[in-house]
Amino acid sequence: MGLTPVHFFSHGSTMMLGEKSESADYWKQCGDEALARNIKGVVIMGAHWDCLGDKIEVATNPNPDKSPVAYVHPDKYINYKLNPDLATAERCISLLSNEGFNVSANPTFDWIHDVYLILIHMFPAGCPPTTIVSMNARYDPHYHMKVGSTLRSLRRENYLIIGTGGAVHNLYRNRWAPMMRFRDNFAMETPPEEWALEFRQAIEDVITKTSGPQLRRAMTRLMKHPRFRDAHATDDHFMAAMFVAGAVGDFDDVGTAAVMAAESWELTNMCNSQFTFGSWDRGVAAA
Ligand SMILES: [Fe+2]
Repeated sequence: MGLTPVHFFSHGSTMMLGEKSESADYWKQCGDEALARNIKGVVIMGAHWDCLGDKIEVATNPNPDKSPVAYVHPDKYINYKLNPDLATAERCISLLSNEGFNVSANPTFDWIHDVYLILIHMFPAGCPPTTIVSMNARYDPHYHMKVGSTLRSLRRENYLIIGTGGAVHNLYRNRWAPMMRFRDNFAMETPPEEWALEFRQAIEDVITKTSGPQLRRAMTRLMKHPRFRDAHATDDHFMAAMFVAGAVGDFDDVGTAAVMAAESWELTNMCNSQFTFGSWDRGVAAA
C-alpha cells in the first residue's frame, strides 16, 4: 500500500458548519473515499488550540464536549458523537517525544469547531477514531512542519492526516455585515480585495506546482510573502498548512501531485480553498 493522501482544508467561518457549499461537498467526498479505504483513523491539527512556551499537546479526553459555535443551529452539531482515538494519541505523543518535542497528553481538552466542523461534513454517519494535535503558540512554521514530518509515517499505516486552517483568513478584513444582518456568509457585494486574491493565488501556485522538500521550503516561505500579513492577521490559521507540508514534503513525496479541488469565498475577503496532496488511486512513492 502507498501512502495515504493528506488534506489541507480551510474551514472558514462557523457558518460553514451549517450551510451547503462546494467546499462541504468536497469534504464529504473526501470522507467517503477515506471510509472506502478503511482508514484506521484521522490525525488532525486545527487552528484554535495552541500551547504556551515550547509545549505541544495531544488530546486524550475520553469524553470531549464541543465548544459551542455562533450562527449555527445546534441540531447541526450537538448530537454528533466524537470519537477520540486514545491509543493513537499515545502513539503520537511517543513519536513526537522521540523527536525532541516537549509534548504531553491533555485529558480535559474539549473539541473546537475547526476540527468537528470538518469531521461532521466528512463523516456525517459517524466520526472515525480521531487524534487532535495542538499547535504551539509561538507559531514557528518550521516547528509545525516538523510536527507533520514526525507524524508522516502514520500515512503508511492508513491514517488520514488533515490540517484545518485557512488559505486567506483575516477576520479583521472580512465584510461581516451581510452575515450579521442576513445570515448570509456567502454574500459578495464587491469582488475580493487585491491582497486576498494575490495571496490565494500564491498558495495555489506553491501547493500545485511544488512537491517534496521544495513544497516545505515554499510553504514556510509564504509567511514572508508581502501579502501574508494582509491575508492572515494572526498566524494561527496558517500553521496547519505547515503541518501538512511536513506530512507530505519528504524526499519520498517528490512528484506527488496536489490539487485545489474546491473553494468557497466567504465574507468577501476570506478564501476557503480546499487542497489534497496525493491520491488513493496512485500510491505516493514508497520509501
Ligand atoms: Fe477558525
